[in-house]
Amino acid sequence: MTIHDCFKKYEDYTTCAKGTDKGTAHSYLQVYDECFRDMTPTKVLEIGIASGGSLAAWADYFGDQTTIIGMDITLKNVIHGKNKANVQMILGDATRFSDIHQHLGVEGSFDIIIDDGSHRFVDQVCSMVLLLDRVKDGGYYIIEDFVELTEENLNIIGKLATKHQMHAKIYDLRSVKGEWSDVMIVMQKRAS
Ligand SMILES: C[S@@+](CC[C@H](N)C(=O)[O-])C[C@H]1O[C@@H](n2cnc3c(N)ncnc32)[C@H](O)[C@@H]1O
Repeated sequence: MTIHDCFKKYEDYTTCAKGTDKGTAHSYLQVYDECFRDMTPTKVLEIGIASGGSLAAWADYFGDQTTIIGMDITLKNVIHGKNKANVQMILGDATRFSDIHQHLGVEGSFDIIIDDGSHRFVDQVCSMVLLLDRVKDGGYYIIEDFVELTEENLNIIGKLATKHQMHAKIYDLRSVKGEWSDVMIVMQKRAS
C-alpha cells in the first residue's frame, strides 16, 4: 500500500476532528514518504490526535512492529485507531514537562516525532525543548503547519536543531494547493 492509500481510509476534507487532513488540505504525504520510506521505526510519537486518523494511517503505513503513540489535550474526537493493538493514545499536554515525563517516561526515545498540535510557535518551541533529545540517531522531528514563519522564529528553530545535532530543512508547500498553512520543518538527527 502507498502512503496515499494508507491515509485515504482516514481522511476528511473539512475538519481534523473527523479525519486526517495531511493529504487533503495539506500536501505533506509526499515529504513524509521520502523521509520514512526506508525506515522501520520502533516508536513514533505524534502530538495532536484529533480523530485519530493519522495515528491509524501511520499504523497501517509502518505495520505492526511499530508502536504509534499519540498525545492530545482532549480525546473526545477520537474515531479512528481505537482498536489497533499498536496504537496508544495519551491524554496530555505536549508543552508540559510534567505530562511528558508522566506519560512518556523519563528517558523513552523515538524514531520519529511529529508535532501536529496547536500550530502555535510558542507551543512548537516548548515541545521541541522537551522532546528533541528523545529523537534517536538518524530519526526525525517534524513540525507541521509552521505558520509563524518569521526570520526570528526560524533562527530559534535553527539554533535548537543545531544544539541537538539535527539538520533542519523547511518545506514551503503553500503553492501546491494554495493552502496558507502548508509549511513543514523537517529535522533529522545526525548519526553519532
Ligand atoms: C490538527 S489536529 C491533529 C490531527 C491529527 N494529527 C491528524 O492528522 O489526524 C490538532 C490536535 O492537537 C491538539 N492539541 C493542541 N494543543 C496541544 C498540546 N499542547 N498538546 C497536545 N495536543 C494538543 C488539539 O486538541 C487537536 O486535537
